[in-house]
Amino acid sequence: MGFWDTVTQEWKYRLLMFVSPAVLSMLIMFINAPAPFMIEPQVVPLDITRYEPLEGVFAPNLALQAVIAVGQDVLRSPEAMFASPDGKVYTIDDRAILYQIKSLRGSSEYAVEQVHAFGQANGRNLGGEFRSDGSLVLCNVPRGLFLFNLTTKKMTLLTDTVTVEEGKPPSRIFHANDLAVSADDQRVFFSDSVNYTLQGRVNPFHVSKMNAFEGVPRGRLLMYDFESNTTSELMSGLYFANGVALSKDEDFVLVAECFASRIHRLWLTGPKAGQVDIFARLPGFTDNLNRSPDGLSFWVAVTAPDPALWPILREQTKLRKHLSKLPQRWSPGPSRHGLVVNLDARSGEPRYSLQDPHGYISSITSAIEVDDKLYLGTIGLYFCGVLEDLRKVTRSVI
Ligand SMILES: *[C@@H]1O[C@H](CO)[C@@H](O)[C@H](O)[C@H]1NC(C)=O
Ligand SMILES: *[C@@H]1O[C@H](CO)[C@@H](O)[C@H](O)[C@H]1NC(C)=O
Ligand SMILES: *[C@@H]1O[C@H](CO)[C@@H](O)[C@H](O)[C@H]1NC(C)=O
Repeated sequence: MGFWDTVTQEWKYRLLMFVSPAVLSMLIMFINAPAPFMIEPQVVPLDITRYEPLEGVFAPNLALQAVIAVGQDVLRSPEAMFASPDGKVYTIDDRAILYQIKSLRGSSEYAVEQVHAFGQANGRNLGGEFRSDGSLVLCNVPRGLFLFNLTTKKMTLLTDTVTVEEGKPPSRIFHANDLAVSADDQRVFFSDSVNYTLQGRVNPFHVSKMNAFEGVPRGRLLMYDFESNTTSELMSGLYFANGVALSKDEDFVLVAECFASRIHRLWLTGPKAGQVDIFARLPGFTDNLNRSPDGLSFWVAVTAPDPALWPILREQTKLRKHLSKLPQRWSPGPSRHGLVVNLDARSGEPRYSLQDPHGYISSITSAIEVDDKLYLGTIGLYFCGVLEDLRKVTRSVI
């Protein structure tokens, strides 16, 4: 006989009378609590919540099961990966520490070596990319775009505001996320995911979730010009602008629209200059974009494959408002499924995908190709990944 059976009917009734008002009033308090947005959540257009099925090129495979976990229990959410002109690979984690990933004597073992601690009080450095002189351009939340000198460890602010045009109010850059530097080092194309901060909170994962729940596209594609020291807006109204990459000829720039599971192409030169078209649609939320070294393809990280709740939540503005108030760990998050996609650099057609449907590596945020290896950044995991013998692995999934 369990404890509950020994309690008399009368005491169960008394307990219920005592507990239910407390639970009820907590529920009422929760429902009436303000959401962390500035405006009421909006219905999300149907086109935005549509994503490609995990079929054909996107059908699950086990290619990422060969990934080697690197920096285990040292790194925390190493989101972006970037390579220096001399082929060294770096990442920055959410404690704002820059690490170099080192291969140990050409074997399949890797170690991470701390290069610099930026200090968490100085915000989160998300995307990074080197210029040919070895300086590093960094996207910082919430402060803007910086130049970092690895020798002197000096950070120089490049921009935190879009250059004021006549008749337009100045607009702060709050969520610089990913970037691409032109071959002549003069221009930096970068995304600004949302145009606000949430009471100074800079956890990018939290900010992105809040923007999804809110349902308002606030992202844009910006360009910083070193020569004139000006920043211009190239695109706006993107639903969490994320990965950015330039074509090899620099005739177009790509920007990933995370919650719309798609990539836009903005033509920079040629007869279509200034026009935008859809370059690719993907099977889930799209994160960083990187061109392959041969220039023939782009790697895109799909952080949350098959976001099945997304179409269901589309019209549920009240429910989304309440979900936004839940503690981080209780609110819906990405599926545990690793997915990166290789896209043809001209047509945008997916050539193949590499996956880990069992999610040993999942929530992949970036993929860069260096010397026949793919380096994978992640959000929420305590390591980054290295996939060796990339050409051999890709042959096995085609
Ligand atoms: C870093 O700073 C030093 C000292 O000012 C300078 O000599 C060097 O050229 C800088 N490096 C880069 C890559 O700008
Ligand atoms: C942010 O973007 C939204 C959507 O485009 C716009 O309505 C709003 O005015 C912008 N806010 C600021 C402060 O620029
Ligand atoms: C660029 O312009 C900004 C103001 O928009 C200024 O704060 C900054 O010092 C300038 N940087 C350089 C390198 O001239």
